[in-house]
Amino acid sequence: MIESTNRRILLVDDTKANIDILVQTLKEDYKLGVALNGTKAIEYSLSNRLDLILLDIIMPGMDGFEVCRRLKENPATAAIPIIFITAMTDPEHKREGLTIGAVDYITKPFDISEVKARVKTHLTLKVTQESLKNKNLILEEKVKMRTRELKETQVEIINRLSLASKFRDCGTGQNVVRISVLAEMLGRKAGLSEEEAERLALSSTLHDAGKIGISDAILMKPGKLTPQEWELMKEHTTIGSRLLAGSKSQLILDAQTIALTHHEHWDGNGYPQGLHGDQIPLIGRIVAICDVFDALISQRPHKAPWPLERAFTEIEELSGTHFDPKLTDIFLDMQEAIVDLVDKTA
Ligand SMILES: [Fe+2]
Repeated sequence: MIESTNRRILLVDDTKANIDILVQTLKEDYKLGVALNGTKAIEYSLSNRLDLILLDIIMPGMDGFEVCRRLKENPATAAIPIIFITAMTDPEHKREGLTIGAVDYITKPFDISEVKARVKTHLTLKVTQESLKNKNLILEEKVKMRTRELKETQVEIINRLSLASKFRDCGTGQNVVRISVLAEMLGRKAGLSEEEAERLALSSTLHDAGKIGISDAILMKPGKLTPQEWELMKEHTTIGSRLLAGSKSQLILDAQTIALTHHEHWDGNGYPQGLHGDQIPLIGRIVAICDVFDALISQRPHKAPWPLERAFTEIEELSGTHFDPKLTDIFLDMQEAIVDLVDKTA
């Protein structure tokens, strides 16, 4: 074997004289490997990175066609271009060789300039294909990276927006996280797909985004709201909905649905639209339970946090009036996991 450039070619022929001519022709420009029969050719192909094979057809034992078939069957060697060496007098061999996967053929007796030209052409083609493949891989990787960055940015903006609304409220970032995790858990148990549940974990954090539009005098009033103030407070649902309306993103559209419907009641006595039962979108019904539960167990200016047991009892009592009864059952079945979560987010 003679080393000259980085491209490696395997020469396969049982006639030593033919190999000698090919070696003389190609040794200046390429690394060469030699095999005098089919078995050795396959062994060499499996243990060396090859760029091209010149393969004689008629050989004792395994012939060139069989070698070609085996190389093409193996994913490790299938991409190596094969040029068959055929006798001038046998057009049938050329046809069959091309049918089973050869890229070209060279006729014997050899025309040196033809051998050089065909080898160069197919190596150039292989290099071009490799470079294209690499460029495509790099491009795919860049697209993946950009998609990841966009998703991360989207998540960050949503988190910051939800924090902005919480800054003006008595809640904290911890409340947002807890409602988000609760909603995702309940969503999964209620039959949402993996993708929908993940989306709910984010969209639910914007349920009170409309509080940005409520005055401090109402939001931060330590005592009870007057009926008139309460009517203004209720507007955080429609303000949130307007804030999030018209998006092309399903995530933001879900957030809009939740902002608008998380205070609707199963029996129709909620606000702002007085929807009832299945008229209330599922994600709105889910967040309604999680939001109330979180409020019950949280410290507020006008109340101490309720013990978990009492909060669960309250949720149960509101089943069928405030909350979707089926969802309430699922929520209550998750008590153990919820207690764990509350411990972690306390
Ligand atoms: Fe709310």
